[in-house]
Amino acid sequence: MVKINSCVFISGKGSNLKSLLNNSRNYNFPINIRLVVSNKKNAQGLNVAKKYSIPFEVINVKNTLYEIKILKQLQKKKITLICLAGYMKILSNKFIKRFNGKIINIHPSLLPKYRGMNTFKRVLRDKEKFSGCSVHYVSNKLDAGKIILQKKFFVSKNETVETLKLKTQRKEYRAFSEAITKIYMTS
Ligand code: GRF
Repeated sequence: MVKINSCVFISGKGSNLKSLLNNSRNYNFPINIRLVVSNKKNAQGLNVAKKYSIPFEVINVKNTLYEIKILKQLQKKKITLICLAGYMKILSNKFIKRFNGKIINIHPSLLPKYRGMNTFKRVLRDKEKFSGCSVHYVSNKLDAGKIILQKKFFVSKNETVETLKLKTQRKEYRAFSEAITKIYMTS
């Protein structure tokens, strides 16, 4: 199988990155992860990249050079899919257009509900019966691109932010990989 060259963008722990890396070792999984990009030099996820011997770049310059630097790396590695896995920096419209339909994101809520930050707190505040996660294409509106796949679970009565996060992330690991498989198996 000829695999799609992909890059994962992170800012934090990198547990989704780890799950994608594990799945990418599977012969039938459509992507290879050729590069990890972080905007934070202390992101824990960089240790995951090191452990799996995946090249990584910390790119955190505060001007327009930022995306130009990323683009150079992506071109060098012939990347055609970008997976945002906990990436906390907003990409410019120009960048999104350049990779139109080739950037996907994982979000810890059942979109279109709870776009943006602090989703778990808001889900609990609103006493939602269900929560979940969404994998979607990235568009120029925050967390609003076309949904590829969602996973849902029941919110129990004594749920806390921590338990909700745990449940959500367990769903995320499967959702992200299933969404990628869905994209390439149906295109
Ligand atoms: C995930 O829960 C994702 O939904 C959100 O950021 C978190 C990243 O976690 N966008 P990790 O770095 O993959 O552990």
